[in-house]
Amino acid sequence: MAAVNPWRENRLPDRFPAIVQDAMVIGLFALIAALVLQERVFATTAVGAVVVGFALQDTLGNLFAGLAIQIEKPFRVGHWVGIGGIDGQVTEVTWRATRLRTRSGHFVVVPNSSVGKEVITNYSEPTRENRMEIQVGVSYDAAPNTVKAVILDALRDDPLFSGAPPPEVVLAGFDASAIAYDVYVWTTEFAFDYRVRDRIRSRIYYALRRHGISIPYPIQVEQRGEPAPPPPAGPAVAALASVAILAPLTEAQRLDLVETGRRLLFARGEAIVREGEAGSSMFVLVAGEASVTLAGAEGELRRLGAGDFFGEMSLLTGAPRSATVSAASDCDVLEIGVDSFRRLILGEPSMVDAVASAVSLRRAELERHRTERVAGASVLPEAPHSLLARVRQFLGLSPL
Ligand code: CMP
Repeated sequence: MAAVNPWRENRLPDRFPAIVQDAMVIGLFALIAALVLQERVFATTAVGAVVVGFALQDTLGNLFAGLAIQIEKPFRVGHWVGIGGIDGQVTEVTWRATRLRTRSGHFVVVPNSSVGKEVITNYSEPTRENRMEIQVGVSYDAAPNTVKAVILDALRDDPLFSGAPPPEVVLAGFDASAIAYDVYVWTTEFAFDYRVRDRIRSRIYYALRRHGISIPYPIQVEQRGEPAPPPPAGPAVAALASVAILAPLTEAQRLDLVETGRRLLFARGEAIVREGEAGSSMFVLVAGEASVTLAGAEGELRRLGAGDFFGEMSLLTGAPRSATVSAASDCDVLEIGVDSFRRLILGEPSMVDAVASAVSLRRAELERHRTERVAGASVLPEAPHSLLARVRQFLGLSPL
């Protein structure tokens, strides 16, 4: 083509693409020939035109498709594209074909007429960022929010994918031997996506390992109905030791409470108890933070941390839950049922006073919050001795 158009080598591909230059040069030649040869050119027979038309069918098809590509500009030289299932970087658009260089370094020549018919994916437009997906299967023993946090932390600050938007991790499904997560990262390294995938997978592997979270082998575990092993009692016993109202309990009684209670995990944002619902158990926060809120009131009534308790009001009086307590972070809680609690109280009646006065203080704060923050609320606070009487009656203890 350089013979037809000697200026082509110096072209500026984006502003004057080769094919357009060539078309202009040929058009110029045709015009000059028409002027010089005049009517002899136009005297070509109709049969001759048809024959030439047929002979040039493919060539003209490619030429016009190539011109259409230049006008429409679905891609430019240098862009990464996918055409008919082949990914590559556009190196040239000529009369006949579009040349791609694949990731493996091969040249693929796609006739322009095929380019015109295929679906084209341009990976370099509208931005150079491409989203990559990586699947990872993680042990059922690890809580999803923990896994997500560990993975996101592992992917922080890596120049290969630190741009915007930030990485995301979603729980994709419950597979035979693992919980499946999809990890999405955005990267400009389209040409080297295998390096990006390698980096992500390696980082995830090391981070999960550091946190004691396993990536299970793809094996089929035959479950014979045995319950999962209980979580270690130590942290729950330690949490109970810091609950003021349970201070009189011995170590053995605390252990008993842990063994008869239920250990539950709540994800950040989940409600643990809901205002107005019936409830017959109390909770001790073993780990995490919980937020106490009232319907219709802005802001938190109180933030609870590890070693705090809640849900005792309904447990002690049988009244509906006075507030909503939800997990402000992922929470590990010990739920103590009314029967275990009643058994303890009967063995240690001195606890009743401590419990009732703690409840009375909380109630006063709750009602203050309600009158201040809930429009139209007015509450008559219950006298402490009446609350104590109610608690004793509910627990089946003799009146004072
Ligand atoms: P219960 O009424 O069973 O359910 C809601 C719980 O919110 C309630 O028990 C208390 O444990 C807790 N709660 C209510 N008011 C307060 C408060 N002022 N401070 C801390 N916790 C509270």
